[in-house]
Amino acid sequence: MDKQKKTILVTGGCGYIGSHTIIDLLDKGYEVVSVDNLVNSTEDSLDRIEAVTGRRVVNERIDLCDFDALRQMFERYPEVSGVVHFAALKSVGESVQQPLRYYENNITGLVNLLRCVREFEVREFVFSSSCSVYGNAEKLPVTEETPLQEAESPYGRTKQMGEDICRDFVAACPEHRCVLLRYFNPAGAHESGLIGEAPGKEPENLVPIIMDAALGVRREVVVFGDDYPTRDGSCIRDYIHIMDLAEAHSLALAFAAKAPAGSCEVFNVGSGTGTTVLEAIAAFERSTGVKLPWRIGPRRPGDVVAIYANYDKAARLLGWQPRRSMDDIMRTAWAWARRWRKD
Ligand code: NAD
Ligand code: WQD
Repeated sequence: MDKQKKTILVTGGCGYIGSHTIIDLLDKGYEVVSVDNLVNSTEDSLDRIEAVTGRRVVNERIDLCDFDALRQMFERYPEVSGVVHFAALKSVGESVQQPLRYYENNITGLVNLLRCVREFEVREFVFSSSCSVYGNAEKLPVTEETPLQEAESPYGRTKQMGEDICRDFVAACPEHRCVLLRYFNPAGAHESGLIGEAPGKEPENLVPIIMDAALGVRREVVVFGDDYPTRDGSCIRDYIHIMDLAEAHSLALAFAAKAPAGSCEVFNVGSGTGTTVLEAIAAFERSTGVKLPWRIGPRRPGDVVAIYANYDKAARLLGWQPRRSMDDIMRTAWAWARRWRKD
């Protein structure tokens, strides 16, 4: 089969990272089918993908926990040669309140998917993991060899378990190849301003919260603590532009296609730069010219003090490089937020 015409199944394709990755996959010549039960998204994402690419992607509205429906869907798409698995619940706080729902959704969903991948001989599998697996690392930046800490939440545990399940799966079924991508903090929007992050509920992440405060949808940004042992006292994170992150998936699929059978490689996908909360606010104000209302508040329990990535392995083996800056993140997020909040 023509490599450029490979069909990729994207789970969670209507969500934030999934929808932006679909744009990149279409751009690279892949055919795409999405499977998303819309628990945390809407099919408006498909309209937005179409507005950017001129291509209509089909979404199969199926819950990955419904094994029979999922299996029937694989029967309908025998051309699928790879899977990018985004579909999961991702709220840390909610996972503490509803651990069983998180284990059920994120673990059963993954297991059902891998059962289908095995039965339908889909060889390439990319799994969305998270830098949260590192916890408070002793040495920064973190490499893929940095020891993992005990997970801070049931959500984080589903990512650690998900990685282990993928490793065990390819060890037992070595005709498959798996790539585990550990995302740092995805943020920003497509350059067109036609698509971006559209949280259904109150946003929980810093960049969408900054957007809401700048738009007056919320009163202010509360900086969670200014007494940490960092250069300005606020926490350090590695914000990675969503389109840089999207590109990592297309490269991961290309890597998996050539990787030795039975391999399961893990990669950090971060910008390599640590940014404090106060620096993120300054980047917003600098790149948009908009004054942000903010104040210092108490620490948020469970926050990691500082984390950022060493992405040398992704650069070396995937040929991946982050190309967009913190200012690009804020500028594109702002262009999208103004459009989206007006709709
Ligand atoms: P998102 O909530 O925007 O997208 C996830 C999508 O999966 C949603 O559209 C949701 O409806 C769908 N979904 C959830 N459970 C499903 C199920 N059982 N069956 C079918 N569809 C289901 O989240 P996102 O930010 O795009 O995250 C994508 C992946 O990346 C997740 O696995 C998440 O844990 C991981 N991740 C996200 C971040 C982040 O900060 N956004 C960081 C690290 C890792
Ligand atoms: C970023 C920084 C906050 C909001 C979460 C998940 C993690 C991963 C990424 C999925 C922190 C500060 C935030 C606010 C603030 N997701 N902040 N005021 O904490 O790095 O990680 O998303 O895998 O698992 O835990 O992201 O966006 O919540 O916070 O000061 O109103 O902004 O303290 O330093 P975080 P975040």
